[in-house]
Amino acid sequence: MYTQSMDLPQGPAAEPRGGPRDATDLEADARFEARIAADRKVEAQDWMPDAYRRTLVRQISQHAHSEVVGMLPEGNWVTRAPSLKRKAILLAKIQDEGGHGLYLYSAAETLGTSRDQMVGALHSGKAKYSSIFNYPTLTWADMGAVGWLVDGAAIMNQIPLCRCSYGPYARAMIRICKEESFHQRQGFDIMLSLARGTPAQKAMAQDALNRWWWPVVMMFGPSDAESIHSAQTMKWGIKRISNDDLRQKFIDATVPQAELLGLTIPDPDLKWNAERGHYEHGTIDWTEFWNVVNGNGPCNRERLAARVRAHEKGTWVREAAMAHAAKERARAERVAA
Ligand SMILES: [Fe+2]
Ligand SMILES: [Fe+2]
Repeated sequence: MYTQSMDLPQGPAAEPRGGPRDATDLEADARFEARIAADRKVEAQDWMPDAYRRTLVRQISQHAHSEVVGMLPEGNWVTRAPSLKRKAILLAKIQDEGGHGLYLYSAAETLGTSRDQMVGALHSGKAKYSSIFNYPTLTWADMGAVGWLVDGAAIMNQIPLCRCSYGPYARAMIRICKEESFHQRQGFDIMLSLARGTPAQKAMAQDALNRWWWPVVMMFGPSDAESIHSAQTMKWGIKRISNDDLRQKFIDATVPQAELLGLTIPDPDLKWNAERGHYEHGTIDWTEFWNVVNGNGPCNRERLAARVRAHEKGTWVREAAMAHAAKERARAERVAA
């Protein structure tokens, strides 16, 4: 999965590297601006302003953390999937999310920040991840709702990132988006089976939609008027479509899917505006959004604790891999000598 409002406030995650200092650097700055204006990719070895680099590190690492923390709510259901087929699909999906985290950490590392620094910022609570993963997954239908809605919202957010001005991020997103599309379909398929099942199964699907709808609508982040980083990230070609426009695209695409499922979106004010050619939605409870962003959602502490525990338990694996790599290197050097 996911991303959210990747323009949430957060302390600096990276040591700045490079930046304009004299006439030569002003020239470099002009070359950078020209590259952005011509819609050409910026690559790791190119000069870039410190603020651009810091913004990318914040956004890409926040995105990577979201992929990895996003494995936790679904991991809860691997042992309780209703069939072998569903279990295999869910496992594959969760593994994909781990892979997304790895591509993204690697993309962020090209900007001069180490994996340890990024993981350290997550574990200390300094770095953000998508708030959606601070909600609990209470029933099997939540696996459907998460895939259908959370991964569906992620796709809306991530497709424009395939055209992001920073090359390594844009290229990582192309592969990620292909996998997200499978995630969205598997979620919808779970919802469809439940919606066509017994009345109790359909009620379970409706209950999951009721609980996930508003948090998912909030995933696109604060409205454009409130969004603190949006204008600059759009100017730099990192962000291509505004939070509100992405939210609108998601709602317009999802309402007919809910109709097909025979489920009701829990928004009494949701209505089609024929003149605008879009759905209008009810008021979003931003107090809840900021509450969860600021660490007070239903599962914030549990998620972070689980992540730190997993990292600590994996220490021996990292040490063994490093020892193996050192041995291989020594062996290669002996052969070469
Ligand atoms: Fe996903
Ligand atoms: Fe993902």
